[in-house]
Parts: sequence; structure tokens; C-alpha cells
Amino acid sequence: MSFKTPIVRTVDDLRAVVHQWRQEGLKVALVPTMGALHKGHLSLVDFARNHADRVVVSIFVNPKQFGPNEDLDKYPRQEEADINALSSIKTDLAFCPTVDEMYPKGFTTNITLTSMTTVLCGANRPGHFDGVATVVTKLLLQCLPDVAVFGEKDYQQLQVIKRFVSDLDIPVSILGAPLIRDGDGLATSSRNVYLTEEERSIAQYIPKILQDMAKKAHQGQNLESLMEDGAIDLIEAGFDSVDYLEFREASTLLTSQTVTNETRLFVAAKIGKTRLIDNIPVA
Ligand code: PAF
Repeated sequence: MSFKTPIVRTVDDLRAVVHQWRQEGLKVALVPTMGALHKGHLSLVDFARNHADRVVVSIFVNPKQFGPNEDLDKYPRQEEADINALSSIKTDLAFCPTVDEMYPKGFTTNITLTSMTTVLCGANRPGHFDGVATVVTKLLLQCLPDVAVFGEKDYQQLQVIKRFVSDLDIPVSILGAPLIRDGDGLATSSRNVYLTEEERSIAQYIPKILQDMAKKAHQGQNLESLMEDGAIDLIEAGFDSVDYLEFREASTLLTSQTVTNETRLFVAAKIGKTRLIDNIPVA
């Protein structure tokens, strides 16, 4: 009989399974997701498996990280397909809590960071990273894994999570797993399913333009003018708007004045209603 990933929906049931594994001396990894799993997520599970004996994937579309005008209702929900995908790579456990389980009546606590969250993706999404920090803190405390894995695709999110986990002394190692690209170079994302064929061909310009900018930055060209030209290139390629296109330092997310070992290039741009993000190292 083929393997089917078991599902738990309550914190008590999650803890019971993880407790049993601990009794057996097994190392546990958590991969938090919002579902709509694609090959990027599955690569996180593979990565997690290389760092632990058992892998838990949580699937929870977290309302606290969506703004009032964002795509919470439209966000793809496909639990059956997700569980099939997880089963195909023999994921040990799926934690799929309800909104009430995560935020029961009377819930009033919010984790707020005082820096790193108002730049890049945080600039136009007030409260987004507080919502991420709150849910990730809960997931880490609910599961208490040895390691938790997040994709470098959401690089700012990864740095924010590393920061508050360290600040709050949460005893979990946070690991960043490499970004996965499709054959056309586009970073894998749950939101790519929204793209029409024509939009998809425009989207491919993101990795091309980023690579070109990184190369020129590395050759010593002025970062400010590269950012201006890069934004024009994206619009000329067919993007409707560019939220940001910036060189920043990897762990602090401060603006880069010159290229250092830590410099990365970050972008968010919209085609139609779809907002795409990407980032690459410059050095
Ligand atoms: O990256 C995501 O999918 C989400 O932000 C996360 C980390 C699962 C928290 O809801």
C-alpha cells in the first residue's frame, strides 16, 4: 500500500506525535507553509529531511499576515492535493489546524519587531511581518522542533524569523533553504498559478534583469543608477509596477552603499494583480 502522510489538526495531537518521536530519540524538523504546495515547498521538505529524522509540515493560511485589501480569500486552498504531494515524498506528518485552533476566541497577543519589517515587503504591507512572527512563534512553540526550515525565496521573512527567534530565545535552529527556479528562471511561488501565459512570459524578465544588475554591480557600476535603470527595464518588459528593486545587506537588510560579501538584490513587481518577489546574491 502506498504511503499517506497522516494529518493532525490540534496542538494536543501534534504534541503527542512529536513527544513520541522524542521518546525514541529522533530529531524533528518543522516546515511551516500556507499550503498550495509546489516543488519549492517540496524542496524544503527534502532539505529538512537532511537535517532531521522526522519532518512535520504545517499547512495554515494565516489571516494575521494578510492586509485588508490582500488576497486572503483568494489564496489557493487545496488540502487534498497538498497531502498527496507530501505523501509522494513520504512526509512524516502534516499539521493542518483550523483558524479557531490557532486563534481561539479572546486571542490578543501579537509579536512586533521594531526594525527590519518596514522596508522591502514590509513597506507596503503594514503588520504583515508581525502576523508572520506571531504565527511562526506559535508554530515553533506548538511543535518545538529541533530545526525549522524556511525558503530563501522569502529572504526578508527568513531574516526576520532568525531575528525574533534569537531575541525570544526560542530553542530552535532556523535554517534557510535555497530558492528553487522553474526552467524559465522564474522563482517558484504559489502565486505563479495566477499568471496568464502572456504574464508568465513577462515574469521571466525578473531573473534576467536581476542577473544583469548583479553583474554590473559586481563590476563596480553605481548602485543607485542600476536600481533606476532596472526598474525602467521591468516596466518596459511589461510589468505594471515595481514595488521595490534594491541592493541591501543580507542579514541586516540595511541599504547597500557599495557591494560587499553580504549584498543581495531584492525585487517585488506586479503584473496585473499578481505580485512577484525574487532575490539573488550580488557577491
Ligand atoms: O512563507 C509562508 O508561507 C508563511 O509566511 C509562513 C512562514 C508559513 C507563515 O505563515
